[in-house]
Amino acid sequence: MKNFTFSIPTTVHFGQGQIRKLGAEMARRSSRLLMVYGGGSIRRNGVYDGAVEQLKSQNLFWTELGGVEPNPRISTVRRGVELCREQNLDGVLALGGGSVIDCAKAIAAGACYDGDPWDFPSGKARPERALPIFTVLTMAATGSEMDSVAVISNPDTQEKLDFAAACCLPAVSILDPTYTCSLPASQTAAGTADIMSHTFENYFSPIETSFLADSMAEDILRACIHYGPRAIADPNDYEARANLMWCAPWAINGFLDMGKPVAWSVHKIEHELSAFYDITHGVGLAILTPNWMRYVLNERTVDRFARYGTNVWGLDASLPARQRAEEAIAKTREFLTSLGLPATLHEVGIGEEHLELMAKKARTPGFDRTFVSLSQEDILNILRMSL
Ligand code: NZQ
Ligand code: ZN
Repeated sequence: MKNFTFSIPTTVHFGQGQIRKLGAEMARRSSRLLMVYGGGSIRRNGVYDGAVEQLKSQNLFWTELGGVEPNPRISTVRRGVELCREQNLDGVLALGGGSVIDCAKAIAAGACYDGDPWDFPSGKARPERALPIFTVLTMAATGSEMDSVAVISNPDTQEKLDFAAACCLPAVSILDPTYTCSLPASQTAAGTADIMSHTFENYFSPIETSFLADSMAEDILRACIHYGPRAIADPNDYEARANLMWCAPWAINGFLDMGKPVAWSVHKIEHELSAFYDITHGVGLAILTPNWMRYVLNERTVDRFARYGTNVWGLDASLPARQRAEEAIAKTREFLTSLGLPATLHEVGIGEEHLELMAKKARTPGFDRTFVSLSQEDILNILRMSL
């Protein structure tokens, strides 16, 4: 294990009815809030009414910014920053999934910054301060509710870029699994694929001496395999929703890194797909992941995939490593398909046309530090395998 720092000051209130703690939590830190939400799901599943009740219970002032897009846009972030300035707001309340929370983080940091908020994802500036961020999560997927990352899209430049800053860690997150029961099967599947992908990005690393992190990664993967299909078969299965909801932040909040070099290779490639085609993040990951696995399977990595096959899929440990590795990859694809997720780029309307440019834009120096380093040509090959 290498040295690392682990610090997550986010207070999590987990479980049914925990929103009742939100009002007092907000009142301790803010008095004038920007409520941020997406396309309207929160009005149908009770989250909006629950949040309003909490705001009123503490006599807090609020103003609203709805319509945050899946793959949130910088134009929406800019509108939120303007509202914070015009109305002298001192806190941001995000009600929704990763897109809404990411947008809220960028607004919260943008409101404390003199320049344009696109400076953060573009790397021109790093947020030093942000308004307090409160979240009520409605979808188990990104882990944004307990991490410092925000991913923002700029359709004008066809870029989807992320930034991370400690000041963007939510102060308080309400994780009530019943709020995720209204998720359609397609989003439950995409969210499960996203949690699994975060886990893979950490698990497949050149450092294999983090016993605790590796065991927990395998547990998270087993939980997704067990509970993802249950949540799809019965959207109101509380046990399934609760387990997925608690897996999500731990797959990405830094615990699984534990001193490992992690390049987030599949994520970087997927972000190009959603930058160019605005596809659902988890869907892009589901298409790419088994192809990335097949591409990086070699003499050096085979034992890791074999361990994955045995510990996650229960494959017989006495089988040859290569056989276990290949079966584990095949099982990964079968599982994602069984959730109803597409397996090819063609299925989501993506053809050859931008593959070279996407491979070029995806390739960053981070790809040299990963499980298997990938050149621009390698990335292009993985994209072509995914057609
Ligand atoms: O907009 P509404 O009406 O709320 O509908 C949303 C949206 O259409 C719907 N939804 C969410 N909760 C629901 C619901 N519908 C019914 N009932 C509910 N309870 O689901 C759709 C997708 O929502 P979105 O927030 O876009 O999904 P997700 O949580 O997967 O977030 C995806 C975004 O997060 C980024 C992705 O790139 C993408 O932009 N990521 C953020 C990360 C982070 N901050 O750490 C890491 C991830 O790897 C990822 O890149
Ligand atoms: Zn992700």
